[in-house]
Amino acid sequence: MITGKFPNLRLRRSRKSDWSRRLIQENNLTPSDFILPIFLIDGKNKKQAINTMPGVYRYTLDKVNHVIDKAIKNKIPMVALFPCTKKNKKNYLGTEALNEDNLVCKAIQLIKKRYKNEIGIMSDIALDPYTSHGHDGLIKSGYVINDETVKVLVNQSLLQAQMGCDVLAPSDMMDGRIGEIRKSLDKNGYEMTQILSYAVKYASNFYGPFRDAVGSKNLLKSNKKNYQMDFKNKNEALREVALDIKEGADMVMVKPGLPYLDIISLVKKNFKIPVMAYQVSGEYSLLENAIKNKLVDVNIILESLIAFKRAGANAIVSYYADRLTKIIK
Ligand code: PBG
Repeated sequence: MITGKFPNLRLRRSRKSDWSRRLIQENNLTPSDFILPIFLIDGKNKKQAINTMPGVYRYTLDKVNHVIDKAIKNKIPMVALFPCTKKNKKNYLGTEALNEDNLVCKAIQLIKKRYKNEIGIMSDIALDPYTSHGHDGLIKSGYVINDETVKVLVNQSLLQAQMGCDVLAPSDMMDGRIGEIRKSLDKNGYEMTQILSYAVKYASNFYGPFRDAVGSKNLLKSNKKNYQMDFKNKNEALREVALDIKEGADMVMVKPGLPYLDIISLVKKNFKIPVMAYQVSGEYSLLENAIKNKLVDVNIILESLIAFKRAGANAIVSYYADRLTKIIK
């Protein structure tokens, strides 16, 4: 509803001074709005640059403590772990996903042991960091098969829950996996382990740098269109979310972020559930490269992150989460 009329009403009145602008501001960012992704690699004492993501690194387990210390100091509530698995550990079935000594399992145990409940740990449920073909599931006759993949994802979830993971985040887009995972967690005494479902994940061109970061880029020969959503669709997002809530998701994710603010807003309006959004690798690298090349001002980061809040996101997975204090200030 619009009330008032020029010249009695002048909206520029309240924009004149900084104090006044602060007084009427509708959205803001706090550290609690962020989830920090961390890429892991094998080895010792390494902080490895990722060429396609300037400013983002892969860490060996002995280096992860520094990252977590800083995250806790900056009051980030949760980190998300992503392994970059050595090529010789990848195979057609992605069996390394179920190895209790894999990178993610070791990282979860290490962080839990040292930090207890000081910070939440979220980890990805999907097979793409482990498969020689880079797909999120098992392949039969060139097609990612659903029900057989779900069985493996259930085991991957149980394993990570056993290691002490707080929030399991299935990012694979198989049908029915949330229900199966929830059921098996409950049956095995992990009824308090949360599920953050990547309910709305589009087959997107914005994931390129991430695939490079986890080493699946050159392995992936096709696309993920037969399981991830078509970016031409909107109503379908609501069906995905409705199903996952029924199956037991505690929170849902919309991904990518900035080009999909309409979807974040739609999900938030239709379901009273925490909605997370992922500012994905491609969004990050576009911004970061534009800033580096002085095409845009660095404040573009704050602007793009506030957009998520305006759309209604509860929290944002962002590769900027480790540099927040500067950004928010
Ligand atoms: C895979 C996964 C992807 C991302 C998170 N988990 C990529 C994909 O689906 O190919 C993308 C994150 C990003 O681009 O930052 N399960």
